[in-house]
Amino acid sequence: MQIPITKPWFDADDFAAVQKPLQTGWVVQGPHVARFEQVFAAYVGADAAVACTSCTTALHLAYAALGLGPGAEIIVPSFTWVATANAAIYCGATPVLVDIDLATFNLDPAALEAAITPNTRAVAPVHLFGLPADMDPIMALAEKHGLAVIEDAACGLGTRHRGRHVGTIGDVGVFSFHPRKAVTTGEGGMLIARDPAHIERSCIMRNHGAGKAVAEREADRDGFMLGPFAELGFNYRLTDFQGALGVTQMAKVPRVLDGRRARARRYDRLLAGLDWLRTPAVPDYAEHAYQSYVTLFAPEAPTLANLADLHAARNRVMRFAGEHGVQTRQGTHAVHGLGYYARTFGYGPGDLPHAHIAEQLSITLPLYPQMTDAEQDHVFEVMQAAWHEEGQRG
Ligand SMILES: Cc1ncc(COP(=O)(O)O)c(C=O)c1O
Repeated sequence: MQIPITKPWFDADDFAAVQKPLQTGWVVQGPHVARFEQVFAAYVGADAAVACTSCTTALHLAYAALGLGPGAEIIVPSFTWVATANAAIYCGATPVLVDIDLATFNLDPAALEAAITPNTRAVAPVHLFGLPADMDPIMALAEKHGLAVIEDAACGLGTRHRGRHVGTIGDVGVFSFHPRKAVTTGEGGMLIARDPAHIERSCIMRNHGAGKAVAEREADRDGFMLGPFAELGFNYRLTDFQGALGVTQMAKVPRVLDGRRARARRYDRLLAGLDWLRTPAVPDYAEHAYQSYVTLFAPEAPTLANLADLHAARNRVMRFAGEHGVQTRQGTHAVHGLGYYARTFGYGPGDLPHAHIAEQLSITLPLYPQMTDAEQDHVFEVMQAAWHEEGQRG
């Protein structure tokens, strides 16, 4: 039995959807992207949404449209996909990496507070793996210090904080449709914002800085004129194939989320007896969407002192799982330890210990809504066997 880390869910509606742009000949950003934006905005409870080529480009648009540039510091949790920080550098701003709460894998509000300087302009809390960040203290600090809040909700479709969909709490929210996410358009991203002016600026910037989208120009008598290009822009337009797929994928969101949550609850029950593996926490403010089911390998309380031994043992467990048909992954990486960041900013791995520990000891287990009981039982049995094998080492 081979069990992948995840599987996208495509059906006949998706197969038909991607053919429609081929039939009309309109294959770049067009009516299907517009429909995808409407459906997405309605689902999360936003007034409008801006589709773009990935969550990375949505982050770039978000920071750029807020005017974050040289001299601006953007506070980012270190345990995130590198794009949250990279996009700050694309704008000439400085990402300031801070530590996480190891219990939730999300930004530690105390670390945020400690990192605020007179140059801080923004904070980018990440709703990692589908668990909302601890937004109450984060929003209170942002308000106190006049910081913009960009929610990195790449993993956050279906994630709610005190009943509100993530991405609608701060100033801007960004989402990913990479195949590891709940629903996918291959590559793809979406941006929502509280301020309509930010939405408008993002639309302009994703389209080379031109003032008008193609559809608007087509409807205009003077559509032969190019736009004013008042902003420095990019080409971050999604194709209409992807827009059409996004619409049919969004129709599956409730089923996908129900399936993921049911599997996560079943993992919680199966794994409850394993005292060496910590299952995901769900604080009382959180509705977890389980973009990933990320555990922590912790046969003893991890510290920087015992980390090397624990990391070696975790890797043996993951290797064993892979050899027995179960694909696992580390949760994500600690950005401060990555080559470019360590070299450019002089970070050492122990500077942000929780992010480093999370990188070294996390284990993501396979999760997808189509998963069967037999597949999930196999994952559990293989993890048990891996630990048994570890015990045999003496
Ligand atoms: C937290 C986070 N931010 C940003 C991204 C980037 O998303 P994309 O692959 O759509 O550019 C990811 C992707 O995994 C992510 O997990």
